[in-house]
Amino acid sequence: MQKAGSDSKKVNGPLWVNAEITYKCPLHCVFCYNPVDYATFGPELTTDEWLKTFREARELGAVQLGLSGGEPLMRDDVEIMVAETSKMGYYVNLITSGIGLTEKRIAAFKEGGLGQIQLSFQDSTKELNDFLSSTRTFDLKSKVAKLIKEYEYPMVLNVVLHRLNIDHIEEILNMAEAMGAEHVELANSQYYAWAMENRKHLMPSRPQLERAEEITNRFRERVGNKMKVYFVVPDYYADRPKACMNGWATTFLNVAADGLALPCHEARMLPGLEFPNVRDHDVRWIWQESPGFSAYRGDDWMQEPCRSCSEKTKDFGGCRCQAFMLTGDATNADPVCDKSPHHHLVTEQVELARNRNRRQQRSRRSSYSATTRTRAISLPGISKSRHPGTAAHLLHDRFGDRRISFPGRDFRGRTR
Ligand code: FES
Repeated sequence: MQKAGSDSKKVNGPLWVNAEITYKCPLHCVFCYNPVDYATFGPELTTDEWLKTFREARELGAVQLGLSGGEPLMRDDVEIMVAETSKMGYYVNLITSGIGLTEKRIAAFKEGGLGQIQLSFQDSTKELNDFLSSTRTFDLKSKVAKLIKEYEYPMVLNVVLHRLNIDHIEEILNMAEAMGAEHVELANSQYYAWAMENRKHLMPSRPQLERAEEITNRFRERVGNKMKVYFVVPDYYADRPKACMNGWATTFLNVAADGLALPCHEARMLPGLEFPNVRDHDVRWIWQESPGFSAYRGDDWMQEPCRSCSEKTKDFGGCRCQAFMLTGDATNADPVCDKSPHHHLVTEQVELARNRNRRQQRSRRSSYSATTRTRAISLPGISKSRHPGTAAHLLHDRFGDRRISFPGRDFRGRTR
């Protein structure tokens, strides 16, 4: 069923398939984009079900395949997926924390035709990296980074930025350079799923952001073409919304671990929409005919101010999921837009982040620095003599209410 004004014959794509092949992950990142209730979902697709899905999407014209999670390497059939989908003609990209990437596996991926490995770090320091992921993984990730270079993959480093690590931006960039990264993605946390749960702890202040951008620009000038650095600003600080997913169901097909097909990572939460499962339907029907994928194509669904806005073909009214999360109605304009009557919901958060930062600055009488082999971290407001412990303990102390949420852990770090 198509909505009026969106002719199914004109539906192209998808071009890009993101396969969340498992929600399992050994890390417990505070900004994880796994759904907060992922533990209640049905069983993962089998290898054959995944390959059938990839084949059907390829027949529709998909050219890029991201194998992600959770942590995709928690599955032992990734080598088969890489080899088979490369033969289908996909450019295949592995999006990983690095945990589980042994030399044997990377050799098999090379043999199978894997195009690119995107490795994530949480910070340039062992202490904060390990705190933010609630695991001791920094050293392991560093070894994996070397392995990726040894196997002559372009190094694509991803660091999610937020209030807790954004002041380390210079050290993060220097770490990327020392590792020989060709691409660095500094993506400020977007507030969905676990990042939404932890938004008040994660949102940077405007001065933090401005400083980070300035340092990034200076770094870009210094390294020139040697390294491509992407700096993604949190959209709460913009006055126009992002063109989420390049428009609803125009380009991007997300398939969740349990087989649910979605036009974006977060659409499962939207009320009133039913999304199909690749176990029950082929990708052609899902993409071209299913009501969920047709719901926000075109512009018939738009309300004012989007409906009459001259920029609606540029940003498509922003993000449907963010509009729903913040206003309760997915057909509203994304409140990031300053034309939205709900824009105050975003500016209030910006103001709160500014006040939190000011409060912190006022309480800065001393600083703590924990020296690692290569660099030091600075945790303002924490006295070294009072707190000789790990950064994890110190950061818990910074959160007065001690309510930061880790997927799979309670707020004290115990496994749930
Ligand atoms: Fe769902 Fe933006 S994340 S439309």
